[in-house]
Amino acid sequence: MRPDPDCRLCDLCEGRTNIVLPDGDPDSKIIFVGEAPGETEDLQGKPFVGKSGKILTAMMEEAGFSRKDVLITNTVKCRPPGNRDPTDEEMDSCRRFLCSELENASLVVGLGKSACRSLTGYQGSMGRIVNKRTLIFINGKKIPFLPAYHPASTIYNRKYREDLAETMRIVAEELK
Ligand code: URA
Repeated sequence: MRPDPDCRLCDLCEGRTNIVLPDGDPDSKIIFVGEAPGETEDLQGKPFVGKSGKILTAMMEEAGFSRKDVLITNTVKCRPPGNRDPTDEEMDSCRRFLCSELENASLVVGLGKSACRSLTGYQGSMGRIVNKRTLIFINGKKIPFLPAYHPASTIYNRKYREDLAETMRIVAEELK
């Protein structure tokens, strides 16, 4: 299920240039979920192609796989104004599309607080959950979920970078 090209389910439609649909291998069972498109993503219509995307792509390659081996998507498909966090209402409006992307996954990696909040309801500190596998319910199915730091948060924090590198090693093992 994909949004209508003229989707108006929430107010994010007002400021968008492009709806940002998933990128990578549409048949991959491993799916990375980010927060929301930023400026570059909005202009190119592809997730994680700006600064955060460069970090994400480089860290995947360091762990021995490529962004083409997985599917990459976001909790919302349109850019929030000024790159603010998406609201619960916006994430709820877009959830039907996210759920249809995730329903056959064998592992969902939630990048950052918004993705983890949207998919598990967890609102506490990321440090307590990062790299600890749990289960989420998507369209009535139990799916393994791995909370991870958002690539942008690793720029000035070495510990977060090490933890995201560990996330990538877990995914690399899963891809074998
Ligand atoms: N940050 C995200 O969470 N998603 C993107 O697509 C780009 C930056």
